[in-house]
Amino acid sequence: MPTGSVVALRYTSTSTHTSGLTNIDIQQNISLKALNTLGLDVSADYFVAVTSAVELLEAVDFARTHALPVFVLGGGSNVVLLQNVAGLCIHLAIEGFEKEDLLVRVGAGMNWHDLVLATLKAGLFGLENLSLIPGRAGAAPIQNIGAYGVELAERLVSVSYVDLDTGESHDLPASACEFGYRDSVFKHQLKDKAIITSISLKLDSKFEPRLEYAGIEAYLAERDEPITAKAVSDAVCAIRRSKLPDPARVGNVGSFFKNPVVTDQLLKGLKTQDSNIPAYAEAAGHFKLSAAYLIEQAGLKGLQIGDAMVSEQHALVIQNNGNATGSDVRQLAQEVQDRIRTRFDIDLEIEPRLIPG
Ligand code: EPU
Repeated sequence: MPTGSVVALRYTSTSTHTSGLTNIDIQQNISLKALNTLGLDVSADYFVAVTSAVELLEAVDFARTHALPVFVLGGGSNVVLLQNVAGLCIHLAIEGFEKEDLLVRVGAGMNWHDLVLATLKAGLFGLENLSLIPGRAGAAPIQNIGAYGVELAERLVSVSYVDLDTGESHDLPASACEFGYRDSVFKHQLKDKAIITSISLKLDSKFEPRLEYAGIEAYLAERDEPITAKAVSDAVCAIRRSKLPDPARVGNVGSFFKNPVVTDQLLKGLKTQDSNIPAYAEAAGHFKLSAAYLIEQAGLKGLQIGDAMVSEQHALVIQNNGNATGSDVRQLAQEVQDRIRTRFDIDLEIEPRLIPG
């Protein structure tokens, strides 16, 4: 948790949206180092942790009253804090797990992996391939988290959010979330406008294994294990742990770049240089390439600027070797993008959210 702070204000809202029943502690000059998995040492001018939608509305009201910009922080596992956060940082800690038949409604602050385990325990299936993804439930729809052949979009029913401009609550059905590959309306029209308070998911009572990602099937076959949801979840955890550096030990935000989608023409050209290049068919005439493969082939593993380094373990990860600054990370990402463009004529897009963007 943040350190070195004093309670600056105890704020009770008079907003009609809040009822004025609770009050919140707003702190000043709080370090966010322990609250972002890349471990960048920046601070927030004002900071508040909210544990309910009512507290969130009070925090939003405080920011509006004092004309402060708002920055929402969940698990801090997909943000790159490039500099100190001006204004109010609202740390979302809204818990809660409700189940009704196949539907679950989850507070935005619930740890994603705990949610996956809770659904399995409740005999609900569909999230097992998404085991061990860092972050909180509320961040999951923003980038439409996905792994091992499954995306959140397949299970999401609706998202509840508070509109930052009006202070009103809304329910957005999945059909209006504009989900794409690591993409949603929350990265576009609703960027910086919506604070997600809970998500609803529809799961299955019957387990249907999704083994299109070859690594899972091979892992289970090797151990001669029966294919249960728990076994798939355990396999995913083991594969993730073996491939990706653990953010608890080495600061990182998972994949730093998206996998690029290129035309078949460009791919044909690349194949003349390297016939082994992995490519996955996408929409007509387009192929998704592995950014990690390109970065590794370009010899960029271990490339370092300041204390930011391209991981030796997985080329798609930028890690903090201790005291990396936002500027180290930004420059390193730029260097990787430049070298990949020069060598393959491909523009790599950054996956996590840069603050300020
Ligand atoms: N590869 C390399 N070098 C490396 C690592 C991988 O050449 O250092 C090659 C592998 O050999 C393989 C290919 O890259 O051919 C793909 O690697 P991997 O299976 O690790 O998957 P990825 O495409 O790099 C994506 C997601 C991950 C998700 C995995 C598993 C994106 C941007 N990343 O990674 O998501 O866990 O698939 O489904 O789509 C995240 O978003 O933070 C994330 C970790």
